Amino acid sequence: MNKLFLVLGLALILSNFLVSALKIASALNTIEYTPELVAIQDDYKGSAQIVNGGVASLFSDSSIDLASNAETQALRQYSSHKNLRIIYTVAEVFYRIVANKKSGISSPKDLKGKKIGTIPSTSAAYFVQKYLATVGLKESDYTVVPGSVCMSAPCGSGTLPYMLAHGSVDAVGMWEPTGELASEALGSDAVIFQNQSVYREIFNLHSTAEKLSDPTTRQNIVAFLRALNQAEKVFDSNPESVWSRVASALSMNATVLQSVWPIHSFKGTLVPDLLDVLVAEDQWVAKVDNRNAISKADLTNLIDSSVFNESLST
Ligand SMILES: *[C@@H]1O[C@H](CO)[C@@H](O)[C@H](O)[C@H]1NC(C)=O
Ligand SMILES: *[C@@H]1O[C@H](CO)[C@@H](O)[C@H](O)[C@H]1NC(C)=O
Ligand SMILES: *[C@@H]1O[C@H](CO)[C@@H](O)[C@H](O)[C@H]1NC(C)=O
Repeated sequence: MNKLFLVLGLALILSNFLVSALKIASALNTIEYTPELVAIQDDYKGSAQIVNGGVASLFSDSSIDLASNAETQALRQYSSHKNLRIIYTVAEVFYRIVANKKSGISSPKDLKGKKIGTIPSTSAAYFVQKYLATVGLKESDYTVVPGSVCMSAPCGSGTLPYMLAHGSVDAVGMWEPTGELASEALGSDAVIFQNQSVYREIFNLHSTAEKLSDPTTRQNIVAFLRALNQAEKVFDSNPESVWSRVASALSMNATVLQSVWPIHSFKGTLVPDLLDVLVAEDQWVAKVDNRNAISKADLTNLIDSSVFNESLST
């Protein structure tokens, strides 16, 4: 009899545990997502798991509660999923263009007529055209060549650092560590262009209106944001303590991770200028996706600051 109660009790505890587990979709090969990992390992009291994916996973798999991605993918999904919500900024990243001096490039204007490697339709492609527009170059002034990321040297064929080193592109515009590995592949022939005031990636955490209005799920999400607030403090002020864990989670060289760390910013917030960034960026995403741009009034509903605010209150 006692044994039966014990078994029933355990089953009940286990089912509560399973029901309340948070499922998060993130690109598992990005530095940006790693505060989520550390938040789960060090600070989150409930159960949570991260699976490979992004904002699109929220709409292809109803078991996903949270998803992280750059602002570009949020705009892409929001056009057909008006229940998408941005609730937190996990990281901001100051993208760079790495160019080959041997292609005759010493200033950004020299990229006219050149081949630039990136991943089309992503935040990196948006960055390239936005940055080059500031020096008067239109998208028709250069050729975008698609390539893939590299997490660790030696970078294989098909990756952007390899393509740059082998002359199939003259420059690479990408997030990290691909940018850094592209620069290391060129050595002293590398020239780097960056302007933090023109563009930075805003890598956010997202959910849906339905998930956020479910009391239990919302409570878990708020608790997860509290854990994320703690992890972000460590990433910002004591990064040495997480470098080896982050490097091993990403199968990255720890020295390379340290050299790209200052390009990233972990502030544990929801960035205040997000709406303006989204309004401007959707002009480009709409063109790429062959749809009409979303109005500012409509984009206002993509951002829900109430969850982050709740995570700050005691
Ligand atoms: C960065 O871009 C801003 C806006 O276009 C411009 O005013 C500024 O001079 C640029 N800074 C550098 C270092 O190029
Ligand atoms: C890590 O990268 C650095 C260059 O940033 C290199 O000197 C070092 O040999 C690499 N370490 C390993 C274990 O590959
Ligand atoms: C969250 O807090 C910010 C800053 O205090 C405020 O501007 C915003 O309106 C709040 N959001 C909600 C939904 O109350």
